[in-house]
Amino acid sequence: MRKSIVFFAASCAVVFMSFPVFAEDASVELGKKLFNDSGLGASKNSTSCNVCHPNGEGLQNAGKNPQLTKMINKCIVGPLQGEKLNEQTVAMQSLKMYIESLGKK
Ligand code: HEC
Repeated sequence: MRKSIVFFAASCAVVFMSFPVFAEDASVELGKKLFNDSGLGASKNSTSCNVCHPNGEGLQNAGKNPQLTKMINKCIVGPLQGEKLNEQTVAMQSLKMYIESLGKK
């Protein structure tokens, strides 16, 4: 009985630790910073989202797109020559929040 409790606790710890560590909370401000960051997604050509979408221009309706994460990653992999961001990361959540905020102006 006691053994199983210990095992259960250990399992919980393993599951808990396998989640990404949220060092910083996702925010619109962080999203904006990343949008202007030429190192986003480990970009190989030092291009930022802002080069083609100055101040988020043209993305006002993108926040309503159910494929937003996919579109962001498409632009990271394509124009930025970077690596896809996991949906759960603070960076992706922040980028989404920033783009969603553009439609609310
Ligand atoms: C080299 C230019 C370029 C760069 C850099 C770029 N994009 Fe794009 N992006 C485009 C083009 C072209 C399209 C497709 C046509 C359009 O919507 O203007 C597009 C489309 C999108 C869309 C979909 C728009 C919609 O209405 O659904 C999103 C969201 C987006 N980009 C986000 C980003 C993000 C975030 C970054 C930075 C990681 C980025 N883009 C970097 C050129 C670029």
